[in-house]
Amino acid sequence: MILDKMLNGVPQPARNRVEATLENVSLMLQVKNTKVAASLAPSAVRGLLLRQGKRNDAVKMPASHDVHFDLKYGLDFPEMNELYRRAVANQWDGDKDLDWSTDVDPMNPEVPIINPDFMPFDRLKEYGIKLNAKEMAEANYDMTCWMLSQFMHGEQGALYASAQVTESVKWMDGKFYGATQVMDEARHLEVFLRYLDTKLEKSYQINDNLFVIIDDLLTDSRWDVKFLGMQIMVEGLALGAFSTLHNNTKEPLLRQLLKYVIQDEARHVHYGVLALREHIRNELSDAERREREDWAFEVALLMRNRFMGHEVYEEKYQGLMTRRQWNRFILESPGMQRFRHLMFKRLIPNLDYIGLLTPRVRKHYEDAGLWQFVGGKNASQLSEKDLLADLN
Ligand SMILES: [Fe+2]
Ligand SMILES: [Fe+2]
Repeated sequence: MILDKMLNGVPQPARNRVEATLENVSLMLQVKNTKVAASLAPSAVRGLLLRQGKRNDAVKMPASHDVHFDLKYGLDFPEMNELYRRAVANQWDGDKDLDWSTDVDPMNPEVPIINPDFMPFDRLKEYGIKLNAKEMAEANYDMTCWMLSQFMHGEQGALYASAQVTESVKWMDGKFYGATQVMDEARHLEVFLRYLDTKLEKSYQINDNLFVIIDDLLTDSRWDVKFLGMQIMVEGLALGAFSTLHNNTKEPLLRQLLKYVIQDEARHVHYGVLALREHIRNELSDAERREREDWAFEVALLMRNRFMGHEVYEEKYQGLMTRRQWNRFILESPGMQRFRHLMFKRLIPNLDYIGLLTPRVRKHYEDAGLWQFVGGKNASQLSEKDLLADLN
């Protein structure tokens, strides 16, 4: 590679900065729809270049969206009303319903916090990094803390997005339902934070790419883009990630916690597809729908290629291997492959159901290897029970 030759002899920290910047710039250049690029650009500058998610204790995100104050008070969306009833009936208590007395030792090989084959760290020897058994256990612990930290940051985004969407939706039944989701997301944030804080005792900063997606949808004034971003894309990502971690951990408290969260998330995605199907198919102009089609595809790619534990890399490995070597190691790991499979198995049928997989974008999805998931069950066909039955 020309880049490798150019960077030959450059000290590793400087080389990493150059590679990270080029990766981020090339990401933005790949976005083909200019409107989509323009809408993502301010968040990309804040997240990828200014790295606002890592610099301070808090970030102020400018938000402006219409609040739909309803004056008809009609019960206007029976399926959403049904979801609202289910949500009220299935509330759980993050303090009392989980067994916080469980003794969690993430280094105990008898109860692996994550299966050793999830990220085969012994393969790092291909890059000259030999880890002993203790270091390998530590590496698995780090990756688990990283994943759960990203879940926690994502849940905070979901809390605000669901609050914004509750204001903006036009259906009264949607507002009732939305309020239950706000509560759900607060509880999710509570339990992930508590698990990290009291059981794992280590957390990581927000991933820059996750920051970009959250910043973008919280600051976009269009309610349906918030909805698409949070209820369909990020929830799809979350469901894939939660299920993968559940299936790859033996730690009983974490398994129990993830099961509870997954049940709630099933309702959230169901709500998203109900609201968006009607809106996208009947209310958007062709040009507006095309923009959503492209936006969804770009965000799907972002989610497929960009969650690679760079915060762990920067903490432990950046002096030992290049960023591109790390990316390859992560992308090829069986754990990440299982995660991507589950994520797109959930996400793609939903995009199809709401009307965003039109013939115009089919080739993009085919080229990205994502069309194979079309035809699977969408969120309106999957109950909480179905999702739990899918776990092992
Ligand atoms: Fe959540
Ligand atoms: Fe959610």
